[in-house]
Amino acid sequence: MYTEAILGILLLLLWWKAFLKKPADLPPGRWGLPLVGYIPFTKKSMEEQLLDLNKEHGDIYVWRMGTQVMVFLHSYEMCKEALGRQDFVNRPDWQFFTFGEKVALGVGGSNGSLWHSNRRFTLRQLKDQGMGKSRLVSSVHEQTKMLLGNVRQQVGKSGPVPHAIRVAVVNVIWHMVAGITYDVDDAKLKGFLQLMDNFNDYSFYTTILDMFPWLGHLPLSLKNRLFYLDQEEIFKERFMEYFYELIEEHRSSMDPENPRDLMDAYLMEMREAPEREEVARSEKDLAILILDLFFAGSETTTSTLTFIMYYLAVFPEAQRKLQQEIDRVLPDGALATLEDKARLPYTEAVIHEVLRMSSLVPGGVQHCASKDTQFAGYTIPKGSIINYAIASVHYDPRYWKQPEKFMPERWLDAEGKFNTKKEGFLPFGVGKRVCLGESLARMELLIFTAAVFQNFNISSPPGSPLDITPDPKQPMFHLPRNQNIYITARN
Ligand code: HEM
Repeated sequence: MYTEAILGILLLLLWWKAFLKKPADLPPGRWGLPLVGYIPFTKKSMEEQLLDLNKEHGDIYVWRMGTQVMVFLHSYEMCKEALGRQDFVNRPDWQFFTFGEKVALGVGGSNGSLWHSNRRFTLRQLKDQGMGKSRLVSSVHEQTKMLLGNVRQQVGKSGPVPHAIRVAVVNVIWHMVAGITYDVDDAKLKGFLQLMDNFNDYSFYTTILDMFPWLGHLPLSLKNRLFYLDQEEIFKERFMEYFYELIEEHRSSMDPENPRDLMDAYLMEMREAPEREEVARSEKDLAILILDLFFAGSETTTSTLTFIMYYLAVFPEAQRKLQQEIDRVLPDGALATLEDKARLPYTEAVIHEVLRMSSLVPGGVQHCASKDTQFAGYTIPKGSIINYAIASVHYDPRYWKQPEKFMPERWLDAEGKFNTKKEGFLPFGVGKRVCLGESLARMELLIFTAAVFQNFNISSPPGSPLDITPDPKQPMFHLPRNQNIYITARN
């Protein structure tokens, strides 16, 4: 009798130690129960809870969500150190990153040599198209003119930020990828943008499966009802049809001596691939690589441009200073080029301050530990998910004086020159997987912003002050709210 009781207690203790208690060498934090992790019962937003945990535990802590051990980093130094490490370079094998493929393709969600070669390939494309003849700059200029024409139609009226901004950003990617430019009202483009919206709306549901992978054992029909997997598959197939059609057109019309765009360049590498066995090139990989560029590069840039308009409407003094600088540097309405960047320090300062304050990707994009790793005095177990709190670093008084204040001047030195301060600034991430479209995004932000404020004033509509805080309906990202602006023409 006693022996059974003691054995029972021992078993309980073992079970507690093995499954219930957080291993001592992990960072402090929330652990909860096996399979479900720590489920908070609070009305606080996720972001508020993370700030509470930061206060309680410091710059590194864990939160087991479902079966996923999530590690959160809150200091710039830790983010830089962790994201520069080979052991943390991978993405988790979440549906969110794999788009339902067994092994993730493309660049944003892939790992290992495929990621490496696709990243190198895409960076080279961006560089080649951005240099010499500078095809990318002329594409951005062409889109700027289209944008200005559309903004002009809204002069004297209250209305949402012109849809043409999104079209301009998407067209620059289309141009780089496939040499295509759509009209603002093009039905095919509208269908494409709608598809992106649908895909974004439904991708939230698959993250639940990523946190609780054991739910994957449910019958398919139930999973489809709960997580809309079938819908996601349909949207993905539609994207693929889109891209496969273009890939076919490119294959039949391309001149190997004169590659026109990223598709041509990839198809040429595919031809050469048998001789270079380390790269697994395929049409599906190309299609997903393109999908990655649209998902990573369009809403991010469009939303930042929208935030720039909102901030400058709310801070008219900054708008006036920016316009004075543009008038001085770009007389006669010329469009900015990359060469003008050094002469537009205040414009650069405004863009950087908006990137800091809006912190579009507040929790960074997840990485994953590929093996048990020692970090900051703790053991980070293989499979842990690494999150880096960009928004928290951007508002941290260790790096920023009066972080809540919109102060473009913080980016200027005593002579008014732009000061490329890096410490505590990571809107594009940091380390080995840092945003590969950063240079393109920066170029678009500079050229579009300069052109819009060279030609127009933007303010809140009479009686409806703009709200620059992020839309609370979007829990994962800091997106601008849907609201009206008021545009007037400058002389
Ligand atoms: C203001 C605009 C943008 C912001 C704030 C932004 C931000 C980010 C962030 C935070 C990451 C995650 C880095 C990490 O994994 O640690 C990322 C990755 C990425 N971005 Fe951007 N991005 C922007 C524009 C663009 C553009 C224009 C493109 C390309 C057309 C692009 C393509 C990518 C890709 C492909 C990745 C994945 C890189 C990889 O996994 O190796 N982004 N971006």
